[in-house]
Amino acid sequence: MNPVLKLEHIQKYYGNEGTVTKAIRDISFTVEAGEYLGIMGASGSGKTTLLNCIATIDTVSAGHIFLEGTDITQIKPKSLARFRRENLGFVFQDFNLLDTLTISENIALALAINKTPVQEVEPRISDIAEKLNIGDILDKYPYQVSGGQKQRCACARALINNPKLLLADEPTGALDSHSSQMLLSAMQRMHEQLGATILMVTHDAFTASYASRILFLRDGEIFTELCKGNDSRSVFFHKILQVLTIIGGGQSHVCETYF
Ligand SMILES: Nc1ncnc2c1ncn2[C@@H]1O[C@H](COP(=O)(O)OP(=O)(O)O)[C@@H](O)[C@H]1O
Ligand SMILES: [Mg+2]
Repeated sequence: MNPVLKLEHIQKYYGNEGTVTKAIRDISFTVEAGEYLGIMGASGSGKTTLLNCIATIDTVSAGHIFLEGTDITQIKPKSLARFRRENLGFVFQDFNLLDTLTISENIALALAINKTPVQEVEPRISDIAEKLNIGDILDKYPYQVSGGQKQRCACARALINNPKLLLADEPTGALDSHSSQMLLSAMQRMHEQLGATILMVTHDAFTASYASRILFLRDGEIFTELCKGNDSRSVFFHKILQVLTIIGGGQSHVCETYF
């Protein structure tokens, strides 16, 4: 079976002659269907640049990125918005919900943009809301719900079109410990029950411990990787911390009691 995502020798340079920043030096990896991949690394190691290149928000300087066999580095600029809408889901730190719409309407918007038949809208929203445990707040407005609930709404909106790949950049970055945990549980359910393929960038070891495999970046290259395998999340968490002490930049605001 083909991997969902395949990166071949990605490079990304910023700037011009004289002042060139090599944000990504040479990165290759694949993500299989249903994988939950974490990307970690110190600040400036290239995490966001990598995610933005995969998201087609930024362009690579060299190399190729294949999503289910399609080379996304070759997509014409005018086709990019549509490509993203049809293939990718996004969860970012600042939820990006519209304040004047209810939670349900915010989710419905994603379906409307992709022209889902009217009779399918309601059942699909109920279904995803139940899976992410936000069924009871669908008629509320964003200002009436907690940060964690907003973030789960953002997840629902990201997933309702069954994207080939869900991209998350520091999804717990703006949340307190409890809300982080609720969101991470929701993402884990998406991974386990919906078979979602997830690529998540985080500098937080606790957040990363939910992934099944983690790539550690250093200076724009993959320094090493860790697989969770049959480890408990707690054991995996400690292995992550060990790698972070070597490459720097790691931390976690979550204490042991959360395991
Ligand atoms: N738009 C840009 N212009 C110039 N340099 C950039 C730009 N974006 C990122 N960089 C540089 O590329 C490197 C990697 O940045 P980034 O991908 O944001 O790292 P991370 O997300 O791991 O903190 C850094 O040295 C950063 O300063
Ligand atoms: Mg970043």
